Amino acid sequence: MQQKKTGQVMTLILIKLGGSVLTDKSIPFSFDKETTKRLSREIKVSEEDIVVVHGGGSFGHPGAERYGLNKRVPLSIKKGTAVVQRDMRRMNQKILEIMIDEDILAVSIPGAMITKYKDGKLIHLNEDIVIDYLNIGTVPVAFGDVAVDETRGVTICSGDDIMRGLAHLADMSIFVTNVDGIYKEGDVVDVFDKSMLPLTKEDMPDEGGSIDVTGSMERKAKLMLEVSNHCRTYVVNGKVPGRLSSLLSGKRTFCTRVKR
Ligand code: IPE
Repeated sequence: MQQKKTGQVMTLILIKLGGSVLTDKSIPFSFDKETTKRLSREIKVSEEDIVVVHGGGSFGHPGAERYGLNKRVPLSIKKGTAVVQRDMRRMNQKILEIMIDEDILAVSIPGAMITKYKDGKLIHLNEDIVIDYLNIGTVPVAFGDVAVDETRGVTICSGDDIMRGLAHLADMSIFVTNVDGIYKEGDVVDVFDKSMLPLTKEDMPDEGGSIDVTGSMERKAKLMLEVSNHCRTYVVNGKVPGRLSSLLSGKRTFCTRVKR
């Protein structure tokens, strides 16, 4: 729960639209317009305050890999930062156009402009900016980016880092992906908790040769557990119509609840 500047209490929901649901990560610059449009309509079901965070998918990861931006010593700081920041803004622009057409009053919050890193770890997230845009009634849409890093020069700011950084403000966090939830021994689990770590290779659905510089399902599951310290946390398949809107309207749906 957050106190608005007006004194009113708000319920905040964080929604991470994973790059794998908005793009085909194996085809650079592919973008799934229809899914983005449908998910925007599903998000509109909610009457709560919403912050959307999106990942890099086929726009962010290939460039980040090419310029070695996830490395201790990035291969090309200047060109890599310019190119990958540009590519992420192109992706964000596509999403904003769809959302605004669907009457979601989305505003762009580039991850690089609200975060600071040290040796690959997030050390600062300027949440005030996000809260200010919520307070004027817009829907902040933050996204994974190339951010300044005190030791490395730059590093990859993932959408997941932004989710973790904002989780303490939220009542609910939803990770929208292209799989049905978190898998254990071949099956999606209803509830995932830390006793189920580590995840093995068999627990992780194959992403089909796609490039991902920000890590494995194991790493994502750990981050989701951290998020779940603060708020109700779910992983849901965004490729299946109706699941996100069901979660947002408090109905039961096929997904994984992450519990600390
Ligand atoms: C990655 O963000 C951002 C860049 C590669 C620039 P995420 O790690 O959140 O992206 P997805 O959701 O896995 O695609």
